[in-house]
Amino acid sequence: MSTHIGAKPGEIAERILLPGDPLRAKWISENFLDDTKCYSTVRNVYGFTGTYRGVPVSVQGTGMGMPSASIYAHELINEYGVQTLIRIGSCGALSENLQLGDVVAAIGASTDSAMNRQRFDGLMDYAPVADFGLLRTAVDVAAGRGVGMSVGPVLSTDAFYTDRPDLYDRLADYGVLVVEMEAAALYTIAARHRARSLALLTVSDHLRTGERSSAEDREQGFSQMVEVALDTIIT
Ligand code: ADE
Repeated sequence: MSTHIGAKPGEIAERILLPGDPLRAKWISENFLDDTKCYSTVRNVYGFTGTYRGVPVSVQGTGMGMPSASIYAHELINEYGVQTLIRIGSCGALSENLQLGDVVAAIGASTDSAMNRQRFDGLMDYAPVADFGLLRTAVDVAAGRGVGMSVGPVLSTDAFYTDRPDLYDRLADYGVLVVEMEAAALYTIAARHRARSLALLTVSDHLRTGERSSAEDREQGFSQMVEVALDTIIT
């Protein structure tokens, strides 16, 4: 096992979906994968491996925020040989053109996190971006399924509750579609260790209108995104 994942070598597939919520990982394994096995319960951050259309796929919770997601991405790639990682999460909309339940693919992720500033000694602003091949496949898959997926830049923030909503407005002026909490770290770690990554997000709340999805709507929106993610990851 690695420091935070209780799997034996070979128990995790090369392709993995990464929801923040460990119970989502369980729900995905029960509803979308066949022949599933739980490979880790360390800290109750569950991980499962199964098959999707005959292809081995794993699903691992990452917890909330970049420090937690970074730990799982780092260990999955470096200790278990994972090569393709797709985050499937929720986000808050900044763009007036988005509605609750819409799916967004993050082409790149701005961030207020200091993690990347530290990596580059505060001398560079690194631009974390999605793997182009994965993003292109996801766009094709969504179109084929009739899912109207938006593609654009996102903000990965450290703080769910912000004292500076004015900065969100400014980012929206620069085309940033939504705010979430993990993509910048995932893209950076995947790039650093030569893996491929993408973040798909469902709008669960709207920062312009104050609307929030009901639990039922969240589940339906989430299912659409999981299907796009699974079809993408096996392609
Ligand atoms: N994830 C879902 N909604 C969010 C929000 N409003 N801010 C940050 N992350 C989120």
